[in-house]
Amino acid sequence: MIDQAESLRKQLLATSVPSARVISVVSGKGGVGKTNITVNLALSLIKMGKRVLVMDLDVGMGNVDLILGRRSPKHIMDLLQNQLSVWEIIEEGKEGLHTIAGGRNFRSLQHITDEMLDHFMKQLDELEMFYDYIFLDMGAGATEIALKFILSSHEVLVITTPEITSITDAYSMMKFIHVKDQNLPFFLAVNRCENKCEGRETSNKLGHVCNQFLKKELIHLGMIPLDYSVLESVKRQVPFILNKPASEASRAVADLARTYTGAVQQQKASYKSFISRLKSLFRER
Ligand SMILES: Nc1ncnc2c1ncn2[C@@H]1O[C@H](COP(=O)(O)OP(=O)(O)OP(=O)(O)O)[C@@H](O)[C@H]1O
Ligand SMILES: [Mg+2]
Repeated sequence: MIDQAESLRKQLLATSVPSARVISVVSGKGGVGKTNITVNLALSLIKMGKRVLVMDLDVGMGNVDLILGRRSPKHIMDLLQNQLSVWEIIEEGKEGLHTIAGGRNFRSLQHITDEMLDHFMKQLDELEMFYDYIFLDMGAGATEIALKFILSSHEVLVITTPEITSITDAYSMMKFIHVKDQNLPFFLAVNRCENKCEGRETSNKLGHVCNQFLKKELIHLGMIPLDYSVLESVKRQVPFILNKPASEASRAVADLARTYTGAVQQQKASYKSFISRLKSLFRER
């Protein structure tokens, strides 16, 4: 168990009410930059004094720990299958970011019994009081279980690149989620933009189709340039915001964090409990 986390947990649980914002980071097409944006956005929020957890829900193919240069011995499946406490699987890096690994080399969440699920929910319950922001880094597309997590979140951050295939798949993903819940806010970030114009065109295109066909406003958070320092940082297993703080990508993600916190404040009134919703969606199975 993380000692610091355990003492902070005790202090907070004595006084807190659930207040974490839970953000699912999704895409249609894979490899568009979800994990990199999640980790670096989370680190930007920590720099702003927030308490942040990243849960790697790309279960069985997790790589949040790799990007952070960590090797997590425990992962989300230990909560389910081995009934560990959530505080035993959370890892804390020196930069203050807490993570739950998604694990590798096993098949995804299958054969979940009611007993496993009860334990899982009980463990997740405490997280809402502990953190300001909880990021769910999803795999590309959406499985039935992933969809439950997405629908329980307070908002969805959609990542696309300017490629037409990525835009089309992002729209399909938004439509898929929208059919299940029309009130879930959608935020958009366009990654790997060769220039500002390309980023603007991409967000305009997606904003337009969302408006026209889903009757939904897409909240544009910003764009991240195609930047060699991202690739170099992945190779070094150091998040680019730490490895290359002055790079264009780092500055763009810091802007994204500011825009995001501003946008969230406007929506604070609509607070709902992530765990209560998740519990009720799992009960429907
Ligand atoms: N802004 C960028 N500039 C340059 N390269 C980038 C950028 N963003 C991402 N990449 C490259 O794309 C790769 C994939 O990124 P990442 O793993 O974050 O995508 P993902 O959407 O999480 O993928 P998956 O769908 O497999 O989970 C990175 O390893 C990096 O090489
Ligand atoms: Mg990923």
